Amino acid sequence: MIEIIPNWHPVVVHFAIALLLTAAALFVLGTAAGERPAGRAATVAARWNLALGVLAATATLATGWQAYNTVAHDAPSHANMTTHMQWAFGTAAVFLAATGAAWLDRRRAAGAGWLLLSLVLAGSASLAVTGWLGGENVYRFGLGVRSLPKSDSHIHPGADGPAAAEGHVHPDAGDGHGHSRAEPATPSTNSEAPQGTNPPKAEPPARTERPTSPQGQSHSH
Ligand code: HEM
Repeated sequence: MIEIIPNWHPVVVHFAIALLLTAAALFVLGTAAGERPAGRAATVAARWNLALGVLAATATLATGWQAYNTVAHDAPSHANMTTHMQWAFGTAAVFLAATGAAWLDRRRAAGAGWLLLSLVLAGSASLAVTGWLGGENVYRFGLGVRSLPKSDSHIHPGADGPAAAEGHVHPDAGDGHGHSRAEPATPSTNSEAPQGTNPPKAEPPARTERPTSPQGQSHSH
């Protein structure tokens, strides 16, 4: 496993999302353009995107299941992960049905019938919810995250975002950017290490305290 990723799920999710959403958009385009060359081309591309998207979704479900059973989590993140998983399986079922409808539609020169269009549009909406919940797993609940930045006094001049709200300042940033202290909470690699030498193995990272981040190992299925 590449050191900074917890599992392969974050690597494959983007293929499923992009291919399936592109398939839906191309089916709509192909239907709107009708039997013109652009409509035919869009329909062929839509079918390929759908087929590849369903393959990618299969890998996404498998890696998601592995993630679900291995990432450290607590009760709130467990609840979000479970909702995410339910939406994911529902979404996959809709796109599987869309694949069946596309197969039935295969002799159509361009565009999609109402059943296929409804399925890819409903599937896209459901995919958006699934992706949103997946993002929450990571960015709201901190699942699979190796370290979180420490809250200290770092703020960029003129900052008004969450960093400012949490009290991060760059005190010595007179010219715009200066980091007097820019250590991650739990450095996992030593980028200063000379080439060809093995940096000392880091201890498993301790998480910084954040109200929403899972504290690890505290929850069992
Ligand atoms: C259509 C299927 C799915 C999609 C589109 C999807 C999408 C996502 C996305 C976008 C993320 C955030 C990735 C990141 O920004 O790093 C994520 C994370 C996550 N998802 Fe999914 N997911 C799917 C299926 C599943 C399934 C079936 C499960 C559980 C059985 C699952 C469990 C997780 C977990 C635990 C995370 C946290 C990060 C990790 O450990 O990999 N996902 N998902």
